[in-house]
Amino acid sequence: MLASRYISHRLASRQLLRRAHSAALPKLNSVDADDIAHFSKFLPSSAILSTLPPASTTSSELSPFNNDWMNKYHGKSTTVLRPRTAQEVSEIVKYCNERGIGIVPQGGNTGLVGGGVPLQDEVILSLGNMNKVRSFDPVSGILVADAGCILESLSEYLSPHHHIVPLDLGAKGSCQIGGNVSTNAGGLRLLRYGSLHGSVLGLEVVLPDGTILNQLSTLRKDNTGYDLKQLFIGAEGTLGIVTGVSILAAPAPQSSNNVILALPKFDNVLPLFVEAKKQLSEILSAFEFFDREVYELAVKHGQGRALNEEDVAGAECFVLVETSGGKREHDEEKLNGLLESLMESDTPLINTGVLSQSPSQFSQLWAIREGLTEAVSKEGKAYKYDISVPLAKFKEVVDTTREHIRSKGLLHDDAVKHVVGYGHVGDGNLHLNVVAANYTPEIEAALEPFVYELVASYKGSISAEHGIGAMKVHALQYSKSAESIEWMKRIKKLFDPRGIMNPGKVLE
Ligand code: FAD
Ligand code: MLT
Ligand code: ZN
Repeated sequence: MLASRYISHRLASRQLLRRAHSAALPKLNSVDADDIAHFSKFLPSSAILSTLPPASTTSSELSPFNNDWMNKYHGKSTTVLRPRTAQEVSEIVKYCNERGIGIVPQGGNTGLVGGGVPLQDEVILSLGNMNKVRSFDPVSGILVADAGCILESLSEYLSPHHHIVPLDLGAKGSCQIGGNVSTNAGGLRLLRYGSLHGSVLGLEVVLPDGTILNQLSTLRKDNTGYDLKQLFIGAEGTLGIVTGVSILAAPAPQSSNNVILALPKFDNVLPLFVEAKKQLSEILSAFEFFDREVYELAVKHGQGRALNEEDVAGAECFVLVETSGGKREHDEEKLNGLLESLMESDTPLINTGVLSQSPSQFSQLWAIREGLTEAVSKEGKAYKYDISVPLAKFKEVVDTTREHIRSKGLLHDDAVKHVVGYGHVGDGNLHLNVVAANYTPEIEAALEPFVYELVASYKGSISAEHGIGAMKVHALQYSKSAESIEWMKRIKKLFDPRGIMNPGKVLE
């Protein structure tokens, strides 16, 4: 009975997939020379990059805006606009709405689901020129910044004030706070600081009709009806353009330590997590997992410094544990206590551990973990599945996918080279990466809907933190009910009746 229900679910999903692929985008207009002339009335020429006259940008100059970080998604936009103020954003959006021109908001273009590049020739509205900190209150820790501020620049700004952004990710050198909010990025600190739904206190958003919705609250508490800003956190630019962000920065830890632990088998990860939580309690700030195969890719492609052979021997996977606290001696005592109890146990959960002894070693250990994304993309073309599944199933998901690919005869150097897993154990978020020689329809057909069905069978989520973008529009029904999708569509229609905001993303 169970099996037949599963098969009928598969058939239903396949039909949904076919319908979705043929679904048309809303009927929108292309930018023409008259539109460029209009934009020139209120934007300086340096803010208009276009292959249309009178501008003279070449298509290769537009290439970094039209192609995504993975070089998997390719747009054909003729025009990139780079406003400096919310007022300029408003004028652009109002005009595009009247003309029926699609707009793709773009931050640092580090997204991994094809959300930040056009599907056709929509205008790209790049936020990079809106990059000022508006205010910071060192007493409350509340930071108000333009959406185009780069995440790392905000960290550098806060450092002398002894605060940190409550969000950290490998793309910090390029991604923007507006992009982070729009994707509801999770990253490496979520275990400690929670999601942006909690730490973002207010937003300034330009709506599709050009209205500037100023909700840049600097209040921690504000129960005055519907909390509209939550709608834009994770909306991936489909409801409006985030132009300003108010966020609660966290006090900078006085002491941070990290250690990479080598585990003989994956089964030890969960008991280790339980033990780490128990012994480290309030100072545990990250618990990140990566398997042996992806570690080898990090080493091969020069991410961080390789661990010693004896530390790696016999390891099936690794865990990076970070502590952040207020007192060095106290924190070190706790971490050392954990390591000693792990090593001295009759049934040790770990083989060895590499403990950082200096700030530079601390960064080197993190560089291995943070460099996995880059290592994978240097190795080949990555099919990236960013999923929430029960922690106990992380390995099963990776192994099942690998066996499925093998059964299709695709596990070899000319097709799929690696099936690897890493992710944020503390958040139940696995990054299943299938690394291929090339992106091909055959590999994609082998993976989808297979992976989505696997996730659904665990009642998981097909997008833990990267979003839906263009990649998973057709797969939303694996994680959202028909009623939820219908209400999402109604909300979209209410804000954006002409469908100009990031068309073809998130919703069909
Ligand atoms: P973009 O890629 O430019 O855009 C992403 C989406 O947001 C698009 O749909 C775009 O239209 C929309 N958007 C951007 N700016 C705005 C705006 N101002 N208003 C409205 N919509 C907007 N993600 C994680 O969650 N956790 C990680 O740990 C993580 N690590 C990464 C590591 C690497 C090396 C890389 C390359 C990516 C990683 N990512 C991670 C994915 C990515 O960095 C995040 O999704 C990030 O938040 C995207 O920010 P961005 O400014 O580059 O946005
Ligand atoms: C990460 O955790 O490293 C990021 O989400 C990026 C990725 O999935 O590769
Ligand atoms: Zn991640």
